[in-house]
Amino acid sequence: MKTPVAVLISGSGSNLQAIIDQTEAGTLPINICCVISNKADAFGLERARKHGIAAVCITSKGKAREEHEREIVDELDARGVELVVLAGYMRLLGHDLLERYKGRVINIHPALLPSFPGSHGYEDAWNYGVKVSGCTVHFVDEGCDTGPIILQGVNPVEPDDTFESFRQRGLSIEHKVLPEAIRLYCAGRLRIEGRRVMIAPDPAESAGEV
Ligand code: GAR
Repeated sequence: MKTPVAVLISGSGSNLQAIIDQTEAGTLPINICCVISNKADAFGLERARKHGIAAVCITSKGKAREEHEREIVDELDARGVELVVLAGYMRLLGHDLLERYKGRVINIHPALLPSFPGSHGYEDAWNYGVKVSGCTVHFVDEGCDTGPIILQGVNPVEPDDTFESFRQRGLSIEHKVLPEAIRLYCAGRLRIEGRRVMIAPDPAESAGEV
């Protein structure tokens, strides 16, 4: 049974593309019900359309947060969404949506949380001069990038890196870590215990053990 998933974006949608590619390759057991953007010109909407996925713009412009989120919840409910994936969605989510989809919203952040939360993870880590950075997939709560961590991927800074090479390598790591977290969620292998996310062993691997 394929998990019905909505992907929320605000921009380019390269993470969305990674999810689409793995879904089409049969390595991610999900049905992407819709892609929702708060920006009409987000390139990710075009990526969705190209793959026959419903691309919905719900602009946040001129709306109170509650009103904007009510529209998103209506869309998610109407499409029977089980999991909401934030893939470059650049707005904080509020109480109503998170209460309705409790434990069912995950986000990818381009730094090793709790370092460098917010909208400029790559820039902040690079400008700070870190030797190791990476990305974090976490459950979403009402804070800014504060929810329990599911997976992290590591991006060591190379001596000859430029900001752009650092960011590009980081993005390619994101494109692996986010689908993997979705896979774990869909397999029912994630359990939140306080701040910790417990990952159950892969039943296929356990079955191979003697
Ligand atoms: C990604 O680096 C993602 O981690 C980041 O936005 C980028 C979106 O790229 N998200 C955040 O910073 C959220 N705080 P994409 O549109 O090409 O997937």
